[in-house]
Amino acid sequence: MWKKFAKLEKFKKDKKVMKAFGAKMIMVTKHEGEFYATDALCRHMRWPLAWGAKVEDGCVRCPLHQTTHELKTGELKEWSPFPLLPAYGKLVGKMVKQKDLGTYELKIEDGVILVDVN
Ligand code: FES
Repeated sequence: MWKKFAKLEKFKKDKKVMKAFGAKMIMVTKHEGEFYATDALCRHMRWPLAWGAKVEDGCVRCPLHQTTHELKTGELKEWSPFPLLPAYGKLVGKMVKQKDLGTYELKIEDGVILVDVN
């Protein structure tokens, strides 16, 4: 089911925007001119990725324990490495089953970003 997400003009620069659709939180990220729609909450401990996640090389990295997923496919690249204290990262990483980040179809019509929320 396609839902309006945001006007394109909201993304003049690379950025991340979150929006709730019922209980589902979706994030649209503009990165190097491309748009990606993914789950908005980190798959590790549900941190809202629009709040401080780093986006580089096609991946989004959570600011809490640095879990990293590919934006296009949602594929898990690194689970809770927490470089400041790797033993802690390993411990909290084991508390949650490793998962890919959900991804969603996205299209642009008449200057509006639409996301298939199913
Ligand atoms: S909550 Fe995102 S890495 Fe732990």
